Amino acid sequence: MATGDTKKEWNEHTSIIQIEKYESESTYTLQYKNKAKTSKIIDTNYCSSYVSAFKRFYEVENDNKLFYGDNLDVLRYLLQKLNLKNKIDLVYIDPPYGTNSVFKTRNQKSSYTDTLQGANYLEYLRKRAILIRELLSEQGSFYLHLDNNMAFQSKVILDEIFGEKNFRGYITRKKCSNKNYTKNTFGNISDYILFYSKSEKYIWNRAVAPWTDDKIKKEYTNIEKETGRRYKKVPIHAPGIRNGETGKEWKGMLPPKGKHWQYTPTKLDEFDRKNEIYWSSTGNPRRKVYLDQSNGIPVQDIWLEYQDAVNQNVKITGYPTEKNPLLLKRIIEASSNEGDVVLDCFAGSGTTLGVASQLKRKWIGVDNSSEAIDNILKRFIKGTQQMGDYVNGKKKEEKMATIFENEPEYKYKKQSNFDNFELFTDENFMNIIEPLLDKWNINKPK
Ligand SMILES: C[S@@+](CC[C@H](N)C(=O)[O-])C[C@H]1O[C@@H](n2cnc3c(N)ncnc32)[C@H](O)[C@@H]1O
Repeated sequence: MATGDTKKEWNEHTSIIQIEKYESESTYTLQYKNKAKTSKIIDTNYCSSYVSAFKRFYEVENDNKLFYGDNLDVLRYLLQKLNLKNKIDLVYIDPPYGTNSVFKTRNQKSSYTDTLQGANYLEYLRKRAILIRELLSEQGSFYLHLDNNMAFQSKVILDEIFGEKNFRGYITRKKCSNKNYTKNTFGNISDYILFYSKSEKYIWNRAVAPWTDDKIKKEYTNIEKETGRRYKKVPIHAPGIRNGETGKEWKGMLPPKGKHWQYTPTKLDEFDRKNEIYWSSTGNPRRKVYLDQSNGIPVQDIWLEYQDAVNQNVKITGYPTEKNPLLLKRIIEASSNEGDVVLDCFAGSGTTLGVASQLKRKWIGVDNSSEAIDNILKRFIKGTQQMGDYVNGKKKEEKMATIFENEPEYKYKKQSNFDNFELFTDENFMNIIEPLLDKWNINKPK
């Protein structure tokens, strides 16, 4: 357990001669060739002329938008044409990871490449992160999902863009089951999610996991005789000396050496009056914290429960590197509220978009792979499909289902019910999108 010595105390105690001298200024940046100026990245104009693919057939006006295009240009379009500066509350991205690979779907269709390396990769990510910061609202958050190829270098770049003080967490996720590794190293089963906020006042709905009987018995070991309530005993002091109220005597006792009370003496009196202080036989006070006042176990920054498609029954679109919807559910619930706008500009199969929609958030998605757009349309129109069906070669439509089993399926019905989203692309790419509209029956009003 860490204890709190003050720097002043340390300097007074230490007799070691300091042989190194440091500047008081200690900021740093990551330098590489062709690092563009932030102002140039923001001020460059978007260059495509985006049109709504659905609007050719239907009069749709929708807050939810899907773009087929390069996200660098689309992010500029959102800022410059749609005036969304400071309007987006949550951005989650799961970009290429710098793996130097090419990805195919479960049906062997080429989906996307991940071939940028080193400084080129960092600059590609940096440009997008700078535009994302512009789009984020003051209460907004940014989550970047990567693996151990580029996560560590990207942290330094994001610190430059968002400010180190707005770095909120580095989540380690268990991405797959344990492997029988043949390499001479530890099996790699983790990836990482970096979490930043735009400011200090960000949306935060604390995630909690439900209590289990086992955990309750281990943590809340006491039962109050008078009420039958379960409680645990916690210290009422914390490390560090304070000169204000919390450093003063309470019931004739000073806080232990080097510590202060966690509450003012007035507040401690109030706890004691309500029988919420436990007094040991030697007169040592502790606060009672009751189980019935806890919503659950606060979630920590190692997530073991959200592996991607682990068994044949899990429902997926079949797009490569498709994420577990429950992972997105946790992030979206923690960092946004109903009605807020969520953006994923590396949308892939649209996991973020589907979950955002089900959680009643507005959403914007971008991808430059037509295979990704095809899978997003499939997700919204038909739903996802059991993984086993791809392995067996079966593709029965009745097996398709939405991401949350208990929610009604998304179904394309007729114009007036087509209220999920609009699909935009540059006029020049319409020839790529039209076959998809045909395939999913979008350009044939019934
Ligand atoms: C790792 S996948 C995302 C998977 C997604 N999270 C899911 O659950 O399905 C990355 C996606 O980023 C897209 N992408 C890569 N570079 C892009 C760019 N410059 N503009 C738009 N999309 C891009 C790829 O086509 C790919 O679909």
